[in-house]
Amino acid sequence: MVLNVPFGDMKLRYQEIRKDIDEAVQRVLSSGYFILGPELEAFEKAFAEYLGVKYAVGCASGTEAIYLALAAAGVGHGDEVIVVAHTAVPTISAISMTGAQPVFVDIDPASYVMDVSKIQAKITDKTKAIVPVHLYGQMVNLDPILALGQEMGIPVIEDVAQATGATYKGKQAGSIGAFAAFSYYPSKNLGAFGDGGAVTTNSKEGYEKLLKLRNYGQSKRYYHDEIGINSRLDEIQAAILAAQIPYLDGWNKRRREIARAYTEGLQDLVIVPQENDDSVHVYHLYVIQSNDRDGLQKYLAEKGIGTLIHYPVPAHLQKAYEYRGYKRGDLPVTELITRRILSLPMFPELSDEQVAYVIAEVRNYHLKNPSAQLVYSPDVFSTSQTVSNPA
Ligand SMILES: Cc1ncc(COP(=O)(O)O)c(C=O)c1O
Repeated sequence: MVLNVPFGDMKLRYQEIRKDIDEAVQRVLSSGYFILGPELEAFEKAFAEYLGVKYAVGCASGTEAIYLALAAAGVGHGDEVIVVAHTAVPTISAISMTGAQPVFVDIDPASYVMDVSKIQAKITDKTKAIVPVHLYGQMVNLDPILALGQEMGIPVIEDVAQATGATYKGKQAGSIGAFAAFSYYPSKNLGAFGDGGAVTTNSKEGYEKLLKLRNYGQSKRYYHDEIGINSRLDEIQAAILAAQIPYLDGWNKRRREIARAYTEGLQDLVIVPQENDDSVHVYHLYVIQSNDRDGLQKYLAEKGIGTLIHYPVPAHLQKAYEYRGYKRGDLPVTELITRRILSLPMFPELSDEQVAYVIAEVRNYHLKNPSAQLVYSPDVFSTSQTVSNPA
């Protein structure tokens, strides 16, 4: 029997909360107010409250949220920004948009996020920000980065695009760095029905600058204090997002339940995600490592199971960033896991039957192909260690 398990299905969220969404959209349409109005103000307030942060500023996408956060932190032409290459490339595009150069550090093999022990060696007098990316819903171990940033006078800007609702030592992702950037791309843990993003901060000065930067640099109409852009979260998306905040924790809880089932069902055959101590992972993506990723992906597709690779080519090896002069071998952990990773279906509306089916088929493939099996040995958890490729 083949059961259809898509990688994602955005219709399901709408079906679940149709009444709230329809009501929100109708309210905006009837108001005649579409840009920078009361819905955005209400959403920004509610989102900031949810996070426990002073200010949230809605904008047009996660990419622009990162750009605006960097610009508000004063990052510009000729500066350097320390970041991982194992991320969605928009993290890096946003750095480039400021005129700064991305400086790549490797990741920790157990958690897939920034290896904090690699940062210090990359700091120069041009370093103007560090951007930890809370990838797949897992928060970076921020304390050592914040301490380093503080010591060197370098702001830490969180990329929270994939981790809305995650926590670190009881604090929400996006409430800790000098600034934080969120994406509301539809499939995100909190997603719009279109594009959207936000920047959060506890700095009043930073907040005031962000308000200008997202709106042509205006302090008041036709008076431009900053070189700004147009990056606003429109009223319809703001109303849709506000309607979803009450559901977010429940959806994240369901993601964690699915993750627990996957982990229990698969950990003897493939490498499963490891959760950092002190943090709550919200599983935007559930990413395994197999020794025959491509064979597994093809097999799962034949069985009706959608999968994706996040990401097949790390940023330092992308054509667009060739000019930076990185070469294969520069980020060994990133490059190694790029060949092994596969994202399984992960969204709150998955049924228990679908989850069980995915587990059964991933197991079947690895039981039939023992050379594809891959499990962690304890020493691989050491962040100072590079994993050797047994393949
Ligand atoms: C880690 C990360 N950063 C930044 C972005 C960019 O967000 P957006 O697609 O809303 O521009 C994304 C989403 O694609 C992301 O996953």
